[in-house]
Parts: sequence; C-alpha cells; structure tokens
Amino acid sequence: MQSETQKQFDEAARDILRRNDRGGYTVPTAGLYPFQWNWDSCLVALGWATFDPDRAWLEIETLFKGQWANGMVPHIVFHQPDDGYFPGPDVWQAGEAIPSSGITQPPIAASCVRMLLDLDPSGLERARGLLPKLLAWHRWFHTERDPDATGLVTTLHPWETGMDNSPAWDEALAEFEVSPDLEPYARRDTSHVDSAERPSDRDYDRYMTLVETFRAHGYGPAAVQHSPFKVADVGTNAILLRADRDLLALAERLGAPTQELRDWIARSEAAFELFLEPQSGLLHSIDQLRGGRLAAATHAGFLAFWANAASDGLEQAFEGWLNDADFIVPSMRVHDRKFDRKRYWRGPVWAITNFLMARGLEDHGASELAERVRNDSRKLIVRSGFYEYFDPLSGQGLGGAEFSWTAAMWLYWAGAD
Ligand code: DGY
Repeated sequence: MQSETQKQFDEAARDILRRNDRGGYTVPTAGLYPFQWNWDSCLVALGWATFDPDRAWLEIETLFKGQWANGMVPHIVFHQPDDGYFPGPDVWQAGEAIPSSGITQPPIAASCVRMLLDLDPSGLERARGLLPKLLAWHRWFHTERDPDATGLVTTLHPWETGMDNSPAWDEALAEFEVSPDLEPYARRDTSHVDSAERPSDRDYDRYMTLVETFRAHGYGPAAVQHSPFKVADVGTNAILLRADRDLLALAERLGAPTQELRDWIARSEAAFELFLEPQSGLLHSIDQLRGGRLAAATHAGFLAFWANAASDGLEQAFEGWLNDADFIVPSMRVHDRKFDRKRYWRGPVWAITNFLMARGLEDHGASELAERVRNDSRKLIVRSGFYEYFDPLSGQGLGGAEFSWTAAMWLYWAGAD
C-alpha cells in the first residue's frame, strides 16, 4: 500500500477513536450505540494501544466499573443518559454502581489485556489491577452459566453472543412465543440505519420478550432457570476458552494461583468437540433446552481457530466457506438460503471476527490463509471506509459509519505494517 494512503487511513482511524471517546470509554459509533459496549470496548482498546497505551488501559478499567458483585460484566454500561438508544436503562432496570443491561457479552477482555501487555509491558500494574476482576467474570461464566460443570457455558439472549440476528438463532427463537404482555416499544436503531441492514421486527419482539422475562426474575440464576432461550454458542465458548488460556498466562506471570483456570480449560477443551457436525466438518451451536446442535452453521464456528480448538478438516471447510464471496469472511455461506448480503449477522463481513479468525490461523501456521483474510479486511476499509460491516459481494459499507472497532482493527491489525 502507498505509504500516503496508509498515513491517511491511520490518521482517520485515530480521529474516529478520539471523536467517539466520551471520557474513559469509547462509544461503538455516535448515534446508533451511545454507551459503552463490552466486547466493542475491549477490541477498541487494541486500537488505542497503538498510539495511546494509557487510554487503552483506561478503556478496559472503565468497563469493569460496571461489573456486578457476582462477577458478571454487563453487555452495555450506561455511564450517562442518552435517549437515542432502545432499550435503555429504564427498560433494563439493572446494574449496581452504574446502570447497565442485565446480560453479558463474549468475554474477550482477558485476551485483549494480554495483547495490550505485549504492546505496552509498562502496563503490568494495570494488568495486576484487572486480574481479580477478570477472574471473577470468568468464574461467573463457569458457575452461573455452567452449573453442572459440563465445559460449555450457556447464553440466554442473542445479544449475549454479540451476533444478534445470526441465522444460528432462528430455530431457538422460533420455539417460544412473543409475550402477550410485551410492553409497546419503539425501535431506535432503524432511525439511524437502513432497516434492511438491521434485525427484523419479528426478532426484536423476541429479544424484548427475553429482556422482560429476565427483568421479571431479577436476572441471576432465576433468569437462567426461566429463560426460553438457552444456547451454547460456539463463538462465546471459543472466545472464553482462549481468554481462559490468556488469563492463565497472566496469572502465571503475576504469581497468582492457577489451578481453577487449568480446570476450566481442561473441561472446555474436552467439551468443544460437541459442536462438530461430523458430516459437514462445520461447528454448530447447541440448543441446551431441546438438546442437539442447531441447524444453521455460521462463521462463528471458525472462531475455533482463535481458540486453538479446530478439528482436522476445519481449514478445508473454511476454504469452502469462502467460495463465491468476493470479500471474505462472509458471516453466512453465500449460497445458503439464509444468506442475506446486507442484514447485520446474516451474511456481511466483520473486521473484528476476521481478525480473530486470522490471528488464530496465523498462530497455528496457516499464514497464507490468514493473510488472505487480512488483505480483504484492508481492501474493504480502503474502498468503503470504517463501516460496522460490509457486503461480501460488492464490498459496500453497511450499518453504522465511523465505527470504533473497525478503526481499531485497522490500527492494530488490518492496516498495520
Ligand atoms: C443492538 O442494540 O443492536 C446491540 O447489538 C445489542 O447489544
């Protein structure tokens, strides 16, 4: 790439982070997402780390200010009011020191802390401060979300998986009715972004039915017990497995006890093969209420590369998945009947999942494939800008513009030398 282009894009990416900075935390994008989102912030910290390490640590420390006493780190922390988003704090009625949502998101924080420390070894004391908080969150996952110690943690809401309207959830969402008492509500997301690029109203009614169910049960174990949606998400479990290993490395480095972490890791490693559909070689999430793997496989299964939990043949299945896409990695296989090139997690390409897959591939020697994924990520950004996601056929930018985690992925990975 011309170094002038590189410089321009680096500067534009930094500018996005600065403009989305609300003082200690970064909103994913102005308008559509006006608060602190959990996995967004952790990945965004990697972007900050390339030019302002102190600010990078602060991003994660601010997220943990929203941590609950039981260890859970909420998926949204509502540091200050903003009526541009629904459902806001008045709907969730949750949070302790700070209002928050009542569910979590993929636990990528420990992996990001490890990457931050690699870039900024002088941050060791900041990592030490975060270690007990990270451990408490992982312990919450391995107990409240896996009370029988099966090695697979459950997610109660598509929002917890970070991949809200993934085709993987269609089947499990169709298994329960929208609550007849659902309070009337007005979506705000479709006033910021074309509704063809967002989840459907049908999905939203179910998302809100789940929120109202959890609120009625006061969140916590009662919500787990009464949730009509319980899925072992292959993406969340892959992210947790790698994060446990990263936390183990951190604990060893800081001289903290490690046995509990080793037990979690061994359990998750043993259970991971349950995601594998032997015939297709793809990994599917599991419906824990009805038992069995869900019908639709999505790109989330390839996060097994990130977790170093890929079965033999997954690389080959991955190459097949890339067929017919002009830009990789599509979140749904292009010739699948559920593929929708524009709609959020039903087809579009995401820079952050591209990073996780590519980094996992690279770690395990598949550097050519990893470079292919990075090249397309770079091309998409140069061609269309720092969008939330991209059409895998035309490369068009979709969803929110000036998106923090896309800018961060540019700085940390896709656009880095
Ligand atoms: C949204 O509102 O679209 C978010 O993805 C939920 O976290």
